[in-house]
Amino acid sequence: MIDSIAAYREQFLEYLGAIAPKDPPDGLYEPVRYILEMGGKRMRPVLVLLSADLFGASPKEALPAAAAVEVFHNFSLIHDDIMDAAPLRRGKPTVHKRWDLNTGILSGDAMLILAYQQLEAYGDPQFGQLIRLFSRTALEVCEGQQYDMDFENRDDVALAEYQRMIELKTAVLLGCALQMGAIVGGAEAPEQAAVYRFGIALGMAFQLQDDYLDAFGDPERFGKQVGGDIIENKKTYLYLKALEEANPDQQRELTDLYSITPSQPGDKVKRVLQLFRSTGADEKTRERIAAYTDQAFQDLEALSGNPKAKAALHEFGSWLLKRDF
Ligand code: IPE
Ligand code: IPE
Ligand code: MG
Ligand code: MG
Ligand code: MG
Repeated sequence: MIDSIAAYREQFLEYLGAIAPKDPPDGLYEPVRYILEMGGKRMRPVLVLLSADLFGASPKEALPAAAAVEVFHNFSLIHDDIMDAAPLRRGKPTVHKRWDLNTGILSGDAMLILAYQQLEAYGDPQFGQLIRLFSRTALEVCEGQQYDMDFENRDDVALAEYQRMIELKTAVLLGCALQMGAIVGGAEAPEQAAVYRFGIALGMAFQLQDDYLDAFGDPERFGKQVGGDIIENKKTYLYLKALEEANPDQQRELTDLYSITPSQPGDKVKRVLQLFRSTGADEKTRERIAAYTDQAFQDLEALSGNPKAKAALHEFGSWLLKRDF
C-alpha cells in the first residue's frame, strides 16, 4: 500500500474518532461507536479523499464528505445484517446479535442522520450538489436492498437483474464517494460523471468479489459467516451462472437446494459449493470480476486530474480487487 493511502486512512480515522458521538444515551450511541470502531477497509472514505486530491482539493476539506459516506455505509451494514440474519461482521458479533433488533434499528437510524449532519460542513454551491447526490444514492441503495430481498424468493432472476441489483446496492455508493470528492475539488460536471463511472465499474467488481468470498473465502480472513449467501438463498452471480451452465440434473438439484432453509445448513452449503465448482461458475465469476476490473481501469485512465492521485487510485483499486477479506 503506498504511503499516501495509508496516510489518508489514518487522517480519516482520526477525524472519525473525533466525531463519534460520546454523550448519552449509551443504548443508542454505544452500538454506533462499536460499529464505527470495529474496523473495515475504509475504502469509501479513502476514495473520497483520493478523488478530492485528484481534482485539487486538500483532503482535509473532504473529510466531512468522507465521514458522511462511511457513516452511511456502516448504517447500511447494521440494517443489512438484520435483513440477512448475519451473525458476524468484521470478525465480531453483529449489532443485532450483540444487543437486539430494536437497537440495530434505532442506532442505524441515528447513523443515517449523523451521516447527513456531516454535510452541514459545506457551503454553497457544494452543499446543494453534495446533498442531491447523497440523497439520490441513499435511495438507490434502498432500492438495491429491496431487489436483493425480493430475489431471495424468486427462482427466475435474470443475470441482468442481478447486475442492476448490485449496481444499486453497492456500486452507486462507490460512484457517489468518488463524485463527492470531485465536488469538493470543484470539478466540472463531465469530470464528476467520469469519476462516478469509474466508481460504478469498481463497485461491480467489488460486489462480485464479495459474493465470491462469501462462498469461497477463508472465514478467519473474511470476518463474515462464509456460506451466508447460500444459507439465505441469495441469487448471486455464482448461483445464476451455475444454473446457466448446469445440466438438467444439476439444475434441478440447485433449485431444490435454493428452495429450502434447513436449520442445520452445513450439508446444503457443502453441496452448493460443489455445484458452483463442477459447473465452472467459480471460474466464470472470476472472469467477470476481471472484466469489470479492466473496465474500471480503462475508466480511470480516461480521467484528467493530478497524476499522482490517479496512480494512487490505481494502486488502491488493484489492492481492493485482489483482497481476500
Ligand atoms: C461490505 O462492504 C458491504 C458490501 C458492499 C459488500 P465492505 O467490504 O466495504 O465492508 P467493510 O467496511 O470493509 O467492513
Ligand atoms: C451489502 O450486500 C450491500 C449493502 C450493505 C447496502 P451484502 O449483504 O452482500 O454485504 P455483506 O456481505 O453483508 O457485507
Ligand atoms: Mg449482508
Ligand atoms: Mg445483504
Ligand atoms: Mg456479501
